[in-house]
Amino acid sequence: MVKKAILPAAGLGTRFLPATKASPKEMLPIVDKPMIQYAVEEAISCGIEDFIVITGKNKRAIEDHFDSAYELEEKLRSSGKKKLLDEINKLSHANFAYIRQRVAMGLGHAILCAKPFVRDEPFAVILSDDIIDPDYHLLKEMIRVYNEVDCPVIALEEVPKTEVFKYGIIDGAKEGDIFKIRNLVEKPKPEEAPSNLAIIGRYILTPDLFRILEKQKAGAGGEIQLTDALKELLKKRTIYGYLIKGRRYDAGDKLGFLKATIDLGLKNPEVSEGLRDYIKEVSARIKSADAGRKR
Ligand code: UTP
Repeated sequence: MVKKAILPAAGLGTRFLPATKASPKEMLPIVDKPMIQYAVEEAISCGIEDFIVITGKNKRAIEDHFDSAYELEEKLRSSGKKKLLDEINKLSHANFAYIRQRVAMGLGHAILCAKPFVRDEPFAVILSDDIIDPDYHLLKEMIRVYNEVDCPVIALEEVPKTEVFKYGIIDGAKEGDIFKIRNLVEKPKPEEAPSNLAIIGRYILTPDLFRILEKQKAGAGGEIQLTDALKELLKKRTIYGYLIKGRRYDAGDKLGFLKATIDLGLKNPEVSEGLRDYIKEVSARIKSADAGRKR
């Protein structure tokens, strides 16, 4: 049973500067919710209720977000705003623990920081800047696969060859709808990538990984890389990859963030109609500007 999720959120968010200079990237809102709340809701829909958030400098807003807000709640209650009150309280049954990663030494190191809270259980790792379409249940599918194979399962997405240098890339053999992983390479050059199957921000992992992370040396970018530790784990046990079948947005990147905002805005009943009209207006403007340029 996967009951715990680690939410690494101690990165510096350099792709989103200056917004992330003093505020956490994970708190940037997509429509009306911070990115990290999408991750928490996704996990809760899979029956996960214990969260270990790895935080760093300037990340206090995350703790406040998942805490009670008495003054605000009282105000909403006394003014009869029950819907908003329910909305801000809907995650109150979940448990949150926060661990500070003193120095951002990489994703592998961030996960290692959660070891005392995870102990001897399988766990999910969710990178909240990878937003998965909330109507598509990737994590649920991965947990189903984990329960069948009893091995770590990592989410994969096919990316253009030109973008492999941004990801961990796997070499694997397809077995039904999963991949048995043969090798993993962190951020390879396009000509050296074994495939275009990229590791994305959802993992179901097992506690034996911690023993490897404890000995892991810094890899690409001088950071303790999760991909390197998984490569080491592969020498000891089978790891499977699960190819995503829905949409993922790299919301830690400006363009990915805007795409997520548009698509999730179109799903939000409060703004969808107005947004659709606005998109039509913008696309008409773009078409006419393009036509003008061709003339
Ligand atoms: P990213 O690669 O997105 O790095 O980390 P980043 O620092 O957040 O952002 P950029 O690339 O500088 O813009 C992937 C995930 O791992 C976490 C991040 O918070 C993010 O959720 N992370 C990364 C840590 O928790 N600690 C680290 O040392 C590095």
